[in-house]
Amino acid sequence: MEQIIVQGGRPLGGSVRVNGAKNAALPIMAASILTEGPTVLHRVPRLTDVETISEILRALGVALEWIGPDSLRLEPTANGPVEPPLHLVREMRASVCVLGPLLAMRGAASMAMPGGCVIGRRPIDLHLKGLRALGARFEAEDPYIRAEAGRLRGAPIDMAGPRGSTVLGTANVIMAATLAEGRTVIDHAAREPEIQDLARFLNACGARIRGAGTPRIVVDGVRGLHGTDHSIIADRIEAGTFLAAVGAAGGEITLAEACPEHMRAVLGVMRRMGLEFRLDGGELTARRAAPLRAVDLVATPHPGVPTDMQPQLTAVLCLAGGESTVCDTVYPGRFTHVAELERMGACISRRPGKAIVRGVDSLRGASVAAADLRAGAALVVAGLASQGTTTISGTEQIDRGHEDLEERLRELGADISRVDGEPLRAGRRKSA
Ligand code: EPZ
Repeated sequence: MEQIIVQGGRPLGGSVRVNGAKNAALPIMAASILTEGPTVLHRVPRLTDVETISEILRALGVALEWIGPDSLRLEPTANGPVEPPLHLVREMRASVCVLGPLLAMRGAASMAMPGGCVIGRRPIDLHLKGLRALGARFEAEDPYIRAEAGRLRGAPIDMAGPRGSTVLGTANVIMAATLAEGRTVIDHAAREPEIQDLARFLNACGARIRGAGTPRIVVDGVRGLHGTDHSIIADRIEAGTFLAAVGAAGGEITLAEACPEHMRAVLGVMRRMGLEFRLDGGELTARRAAPLRAVDLVATPHPGVPTDMQPQLTAVLCLAGGESTVCDTVYPGRFTHVAELERMGACISRRPGKAIVRGVDSLRGASVAAADLRAGAALVVAGLASQGTTTISGTEQIDRGHEDLEERLRELGADISRVDGEPLRAGRRKSA
């Protein structure tokens, strides 16, 4: 079984380039279904999730080819299948983002209810509510949902859910509304930077979307979209994970091509924890020399601290003097990393929807397992700061969201390697 091995206790130093954002690339790739003519995407990360959505799109008639280290050319077909392969849909929740494009462009879609995962329930009721409002009709034939639609018609839609808005739900409704007849007004829309990047991409393809990044998005439907050339925004979660690494291990690192504008809440909470930041042109330098300080942390929808950074920040807080309370309002159960951190000597107690972290002077290396992609990243962060050797299994989880994580951490001076197999690069998938 493949494992990542970390020899901890070394401060980090050096510079690393931040890749394009996985959570922007996935819906933008799905949006290619809406267009006629080729699209070229730059800064596409080589991740297994990107490979999975690529396989889904190929099965739906979209020709894809890598034309550079991180450039992808997509050539959609006007018609084609409307049912992505079941095993791929079940592998990745984000596959749900082909629903809106298929309905808008091909008038039908059939897919399995996307797989949930260990971070919590992953319903799609808000997706269906929004698409129904545009005129789609759904039938549930377990485990499938089958949808049909004539030409979609714009409508007012409220996307508020019990835990705030839905990122991929907002993406699905925006994508479907671009080709609907008339105006769609989405209230309580997700405000994430990835939604803003999707809107930028679609507007470059000829769509008419205003208000992305605010709670109210207005889409005026058009008759058709063409392809474009688009560069994906920086991955704020990958960048935050590198900041968590230097926060835990100490030292000074520089992130090239990050987007601090998208990371205000994370930078704010890490300053309170004792990190210092310097912005020099497009480069963000982070330094942690002073002892870490405990802070209370609440993960919320953007512009708050993202839930996808909660595990990594919790790992850093394990070493902060004092007591920190960590809440996750988006996924209240997203604490699979806690038991693994405790195996490394962390002192954490659980309460419903929260974790109470009492800082310790040091963590110790242990054998731990990554239950989901960000929990895996959190264990790497903790391993970098631990005395001794940490062995992390579940590397396939880490590879879903972090490209060549150990190679890039080695560039920052970490003693980290992967054993029993090659890094799981896109295009070289493990046998199912
Ligand atoms: C996106 O997932 C991200 N994935 C997730 O990142 C991220 O954690 C999440 O947004 C929240 O920021 C991608 O963008 C590919 P949601 P998404 O719909 O859109 C509830 C990672 O680590 N909800 O915004 O699927 C839901 O239960 C991944 O990269 C409903 O109730 O998440 C959750 O509590 C993990 N009904 C909350 O909303 C719905 O129809 C937010 O979910 C949809 C969601």
